Amino acid sequence: MPTASCRDHFREIASRYRAVRSLDVRAVRRIAKALARLVPAQGERGLRLLDVGTGTGRYLVALSEALRELGVPIARAVGTDQSSAMLKRFTGLAVTARAEALPYGAAFDAVLTFNALHHLELDRFLAEAARVLRPEGLLILYTRTPEQNRETIWGKHFPDFAAREGRLYTAAALRGALERSRMFRSIRFRIAAWWQLTSVPTLLRQARARHYSTFRFYAPREFEQALERFRARVRRAYRFPWAIPARNNHVIVLAARRR
Ligand SMILES: C[S@@+](CC[C@H](N)C(=O)[O-])C[C@H]1O[C@@H](n2cnc3c(N)ncnc32)[C@H](O)[C@@H]1O
Repeated sequence: MPTASCRDHFREIASRYRAVRSLDVRAVRRIAKALARLVPAQGERGLRLLDVGTGTGRYLVALSEALRELGVPIARAVGTDQSSAMLKRFTGLAVTARAEALPYGAAFDAVLTFNALHHLELDRFLAEAARVLRPEGLLILYTRTPEQNRETIWGKHFPDFAAREGRLYTAAALRGALERSRMFRSIRFRIAAWWQLTSVPTLLRQARARHYSTFRFYAPREFEQALERFRARVRRAYRFPWAIPARNNHVIVLAARRR
């Protein structure tokens, strides 16, 4: 999706984004525990966090709450995004900026990104993340791989969904980019297993709201036909349309900024 239409998508969906996207609470807790082990930079009273592609800031807010529960002080939690429409829904410290040109020096203990990596120019973002991280600071990427995308309810039942979503990075591509950058060490991949209970009405409402930008790869009429086939397939595949178990696994990638 070209940058302009990515911006259009998020401008259009900003007001309903929180209502149609679910949040992976278990992954947030795991990430909070990893951050709890990170010692703040010298002279700082707490962690300095940067969430890139923060959107409405919902993951940054959840993460800050999880850290407070663990008793970890936060000195600064900043969310950046290229979409001011998305940031308007964020009540925290928000800065409009592209991930490929972050307006900071080496000012953060951790740089995070949730569900945004496939929109970014990966090598340029990694270079920027390395630049704004202090030495030994942590980079944390939360994303779906193409394989995981295929295993979601959309990948399995929405016609052509996984094939049209060509932007997601494989684990090998992510590792390759991190290694190529030479800026990170101790690269670890963790599976964030996530089962959700959903329903046919919820799924249809989400798709109609274009809760995934992948749906922008369908022309309107084509989308309606695909949605109808999806509805029929899901109704056939699950006995109870009001209680459908749906897999939504992700990966969490952690890497330390080299000294
Ligand atoms: C799927 S949303 C995820 C938002 C948020 N992280 C979440 O999980 O709720 C992707 C976000 O990335 C932003 N984005 C896309 N390309 C970007 C770029 N090059 N630089 C900064 N933000 C970008 C979009 O505006 C959007 O808010």
